[in-house]
Amino acid sequence: MSPSATITNGTTIIPKLDRPLAFYGTVIHCLSQSEVEIAESALLLVNIHGKISSFHKDVKQDQIEQLLSEQGWSTETVSLTILERGKFMVPGFFDTHNHAPQWTQRGTGRGHLIMDWLNNTTFPHEARFADPDYARKTYASCVDGFLKQGVTTACYYGSLHGEATKILAEICIQKGQRAYVGKCNMNREAPDYYRDASAEESISVTRDFIDHVRKIDPKFELVTPILTPRFAVACDADVLSGLGKIAAEDPTLPIQTHFNETPQEMEITKKLYPEFENESDLYEHFGLLNERSVLAHCIYMDEYDMSRLEHLNCGIAHCPVSNTTSGTFGVAPVREYLRRGMKVGLGTDSGGGFSSSIMDCMRQAFVVSNAKKLSTGGADKSLSFYETFYLATLGGARVCNLDGIVGNFQVGKEFDALEIHTVGKNAGIVTLVEDTDSTAKIFEKFIMSGDDRNIARVFVKGRSVKEC
Ligand code: GUN
Ligand code: FE
Repeated sequence: MSPSATITNGTTIIPKLDRPLAFYGTVIHCLSQSEVEIAESALLLVNIHGKISSFHKDVKQDQIEQLLSEQGWSTETVSLTILERGKFMVPGFFDTHNHAPQWTQRGTGRGHLIMDWLNNTTFPHEARFADPDYARKTYASCVDGFLKQGVTTACYYGSLHGEATKILAEICIQKGQRAYVGKCNMNREAPDYYRDASAEESISVTRDFIDHVRKIDPKFELVTPILTPRFAVACDADVLSGLGKIAAEDPTLPIQTHFNETPQEMEITKKLYPEFENESDLYEHFGLLNERSVLAHCIYMDEYDMSRLEHLNCGIAHCPVSNTTSGTFGVAPVREYLRRGMKVGLGTDSGGGFSSSIMDCMRQAFVVSNAKKLSTGGADKSLSFYETFYLATLGGARVCNLDGIVGNFQVGKEFDALEIHTVGKNAGIVTLVEDTDSTAKIFEKFIMSGDDRNIARVFVKGRSVKEC
């Protein structure tokens, strides 16, 4: 497989495709939070720039040549994929909350409250990323691992190290993954061996990292730097205000942090910042809460926090696997977020969660929504599998403010997509597809029981990026 992008003379080069792509068969995507379109006999066309140039529905196979010729193409000049029954295209998945350095600790240290888990499991591990060779090896495996599972866009926290985080950004580009990448800011409430030496250093390493990404990917075609205060506990007021200043200077930069994740974390935040009643006021005060914010967890929400995030149009990264397995059982009010039309997507929070699979997150989001239904006496309905699919695709794109570019198959968007196979010798252990199954039933079987084996090919900007 040729590289999907290279860094040549210090800048990103994304080659054009050598031919347009055409997919004929079933195409499934979300038109909105409440509408999933299942188009059978569809013809989806992608130009050499990796953009969707047309999407025809109810096409007979003998009409393909004519529709291609309308683009000036023919079956001779395009790469045509015929999707037989049991195979279909869906948009790529978004992982809106992911700690790249935790790739090599995922699943370990269960059952501890957040601060113990950070101090005993996570910080000693993340400290290893001071070594660029370790970072290069681990991040290559991490990015391959997420691409393999269909994550075409990831919001990554790096470690606190500038050098390792540059390596992560470069690997995303070289492997062709769309990503937000952030140097993690943390200058207190962490051991001496793993914290920024001072607020000044925390901010200057961040600025240097942003400058580096601007150099290697000036238009943020694949990688965008994201401001990443780990959480208020680990950042003093100088770090938060320094990051708020960068956010104000450059309105293209997104921001990510952890928000109302556990009672322990919220209590410590209050002790460290007694002048603020809640985390909304705190982050807003420092200029870190706005439509560019991606807030992980958002579990313990009173009406004030809820309405501030709604009013400020913040994005929410729902992490149902980590919320329910890392020391506490947190049930985020996702139905309420959706009811209010807020931006919600899914995050693996890998390794805060034990799974690196967005498909597991979809299913755990469903489980957690059942718990919420129970605790609200039925007022908050469970999520349907269609809604969990929305969260993993268009919902995630909205959280990242990328829904004008990706998230579904609207003509003009970039082609970030997964080719799904539920039949054939590599179909793994997905619920067996039967002759009598409708396309909707086959799709449900994939969402509820599929895994990476069913993700045959992964495309970002039209480029095939899955390393088998
Ligand atoms: N809060 C601060 N750091 C972390 C982290 O690495 N994972 C999770 N889940 N919560 C955090
Ligand atoms: Fe996290």
